[in-house]
Amino acid sequence: CKPGLMPMGGVRVFPSGCVMPTEYVPYAERLRHFTVRPDDVWVISYPKCGTTWTQEMVWLIGNNCDLEAAKSQLLLQRFPFLEAVSIISQEIEGEEEDDENVLGADTITFIEVLPSPRFIMSHLPTKLLPQEIWIKKPKIIYVTRNPKDAAISYYHHHRLWNGYTGGYDTFMEGFLKDKLVYSPFWDHVIEYKKLENEPHVLINSYEEMKKDLPGVIRRTAKFLEKDLTDEQVSILTHHLSFKEMKVNSAINGEEFIKEVKEKHEMPAEDPELTFIRKGEVGGYKNEMPEKLVERFDDWTREKLCGTILQNEIM
Ligand code: A3P
Repeated sequence: CKPGLMPMGGVRVFPSGCVMPTEYVPYAERLRHFTVRPDDVWVISYPKCGTTWTQEMVWLIGNNCDLEAAKSQLLLQRFPFLEAVSIISQEIEGEEEDDENVLGADTITFIEVLPSPRFIMSHLPTKLLPQEIWIKKPKIIYVTRNPKDAAISYYHHHRLWNGYTGGYDTFMEGFLKDKLVYSPFWDHVIEYKKLENEPHVLINSYEEMKKDLPGVIRRTAKFLEKDLTDEQVSILTHHLSFKEMKVNSAINGEEFIKEVKEKHEMPAEDPELTFIRKGEVGGYKNEMPEKLVERFDDWTREKLCGTILQNEIM
């Protein structure tokens, strides 16, 4: 359930080089001046890097591991997507009754009146974040992922949410040329990585979450200054498993997906057209031709050369 990733009316490249949907433009200033609170908890990422997974983990750590509460309310409501404002507003304008919109307001207004501590999700690159974030310094958990897996995931995401039919090769070309929404990928990651030593910033990776989820849960809880018992860690590990998340209707967007599939007349049973899709590390090996893998690796080497990440080839 990521309505804000649908570039319905094309994209706009900002002077900083960030690619954003044109629907974002009228809200850019409002977002820049969004009032941040020091006790907010932010999850930020480039799309398809494990945002939802991280959100659910962070929300539960911050809410006493209350699984019942988590299951009884959509993640989109518990952990709203800040800049999805344009799409949500369009839905409101297009509907006769506001209460059909899951937030009942645009995302900014909805978040502004939430009680503290607020849980806020964003894909904005550092340069487009609300200015107050650098003054109020709320806790930020950034999650990153191997770009080859993220690109494949993003491709299927566009097919699903956007009715994208432009083909695999064109999409991958768009990814490598940094033309997709929230690109450039590596600038996004590098700018957050530069903040890694700030006490209010934690950087996690999708790959670590797959390898050692209990370890990531513990580290994130420590960062959020929450004590978890071993039993809580084990309960969370189970709840956050791919199998559980896939069937969790507070997270998997099944309601929205059903609507979207009907609207675009998509095959109801296509296994790739789901939100919690494959959940693999290195899944690209089955979906990317060798030549494209080489191009991604060259692109990564080029982008990381001379940066703080130059020793990390993902
Ligand atoms: P795939 O499309 O590769 O399966 P985001 O939330 O940033 O949009 O990321 C979505 C990706 O995270 C999808 O990747 C999705 O399947 C994966 N994901 C979500 N929950 C997961 C979980 N519990 N375990 C592993 N992967 C998960």
